[in-house]
Amino acid sequence: MHKSVQDIINMKKEKKKVSVITGYDYTLASLCDKAGIDVLLVGDSAGMVMLGYENTIPVTMDQMCMFTEAVSRARNNALLVADLPFMSYQASIEDAINNSGKLVKAGADAVKLEGGSIMAETISAIVDVGIPVMGHIGLQPQTTMLSEGYKVQGRTKDTAIKLIQDAKEIEEAGVFSIALEMVSHEVAQIISETVSIPTIGIGSGANCDGQVLVVQDLLGMYDKIKPKFAKRYMNLSEDIVKSLEDYKSDVESGTFPAEENWFSMNPDELKKLRE
Ligand code: KIV
Ligand code: NA
Repeated sequence: MHKSVQDIINMKKEKKKVSVITGYDYTLASLCDKAGIDVLLVGDSAGMVMLGYENTIPVTMDQMCMFTEAVSRARNNALLVADLPFMSYQASIEDAINNSGKLVKAGADAVKLEGGSIMAETISAIVDVGIPVMGHIGLQPQTTMLSEGYKVQGRTKDTAIKLIQDAKEIEEAGVFSIALEMVSHEVAQIISETVSIPTIGIGSGANCDGQVLVVQDLLGMYDKIKPKFAKRYMNLSEDIVKSLEDYKSDVESGTFPAEENWFSMNPDELKKLRE
């Protein structure tokens, strides 16, 4: 049986840190699950990492459902959370419920949406129909058009107070966990001490109750943006390019394929064919 929302909530009480990985495809999600990662997040960052968009704005529900289905076929152990993409929940509560339902039918155990107190009503409506919600405050990539862009959040007293208030209000609305993206580590610590549900940080310091990284960042496969918080455990893109160069040169020289890579006819049949 895979992890439940309650298992993740309990981890905070048991003082166990929650490991979360953003992943979008069957192959990598299988490996994340095998490694025992607690939560697999099908993030709308898929738009950038998998589809090459500049930001997450163009991502559609159909795309999110496809990625969610792929990851759901891969997971045995982790909790599966899927992002509601831009404009799938903002226009109305009806949209939010219908689209959350689509992600659940695609295999998600819970959905995630961006926004603080302004999303409280939407969050409680989704929770009321039986779908767990993860909150997401701090840097909110879906609304960076309104702000100064990809910047650290909560560096001043007023923005700190607003973030803490947002965290409290979405907890009240029923989220089971809160992603904190690029929040100053001091504010992330205060929020983590204030709410009773786990906070999951990305670029928000060591005092969050869990951490999240995009698997392609962790493996060093996505080189377009290299944020300071994205610790690289490997430099896979170099190895991949090197392997592809080796393949190309093997093809050109005729070294590949070799006998172990091809198939033969039945020898008797070959004799008959040659007669
Ligand atoms: O889309 C995503 O990957 C996310 C995480 C970074 C929290 O929302
Ligand atoms: Na996201």
